[in-house]
Amino acid sequence: MKLTHVELKQFDKDGYLFFPGKFSIEEARVLRHAADEVYALNRKEVWRETSGVARTAFAAHTYNEPFRRLGAHPRLIKPVEQLLDGKVYIHQYKVNAKAAFDGEVWQWHQDFGTWARDDEMPEPRAMNIAVFLDDVTAANGPLLFIPGSHKLGIVDAGHDLETTSYPLWTLDRETVTKLAEDGGCVAPTGPAGSMLMFSSLMVHASPPNISPFGRSIVYLSLCHVDNHIRAFNRDEWIAHRDFAPIEPLSDNCLNELISQKSVAAE
Ligand code: SIN
Ligand code: MN
Repeated sequence: MKLTHVELKQFDKDGYLFFPGKFSIEEARVLRHAADEVYALNRKEVWRETSGVARTAFAAHTYNEPFRRLGAHPRLIKPVEQLLDGKVYIHQYKVNAKAAFDGEVWQWHQDFGTWARDDEMPEPRAMNIAVFLDDVTAANGPLLFIPGSHKLGIVDAGHDLETTSYPLWTLDRETVTKLAEDGGCVAPTGPAGSMLMFSSLMVHASPPNISPFGRSIVYLSLCHVDNHIRAFNRDEWIAHRDFAPIEPLSDNCLNELISQKSVAAE
């Protein structure tokens, strides 16, 4: 998949691109099932909300086969290589549950703000690419973006160690209000299997999920190999130390798992 000139211009303007239904329903189902297996694990990488339900499973590509394959999927890796102009490694890998009723807030932040301050990533030559594992709607805690906010560099932030179980450099209300006066606020929504890529400087957040519908999204945070982090302050399964370039698998790599399963069932 190659991003078109129009898509590149749109990314430059807005800071994100949305591709509804980029993965098939079957591919999304394999990953959704894998997410449930991962959430049930009693591992340090699986962080929980105050209620005990899973919030985030970090580094799931290192202990789950479907997520390993997704971590080298060409539909995710190739467009990011194109935008960052070179080979990439995985800086962070998250499966975010935003569970029905109990999924808690993600406060307003920029990912690069945390990566620069905590991990000493030199430049914002890194970005997120995400796949929806459930239908994401206005009701179940969608991601919120301020389009164009990626043009502003690192915005002032405070270290929030209290609001949720995950420490984050977050923006105050005055700053968010001012940014949204210019950029507005959007929530990309769409069916399971949709793909969303966004700049590491994008100001974003998500509200709690009070609905009865879960909202799992898996995020690869990919960084140009020359731009790897310099400081190792966080656990290696949160801010990875393996800077080897990802070699993409075949486009069929998730479908192979589906056919293996159906052969086994025969
Ligand atoms: C994030 O900002 O990294 C995740 C937010 C979400 O999944 O809602
Ligand atoms: Mn984020």
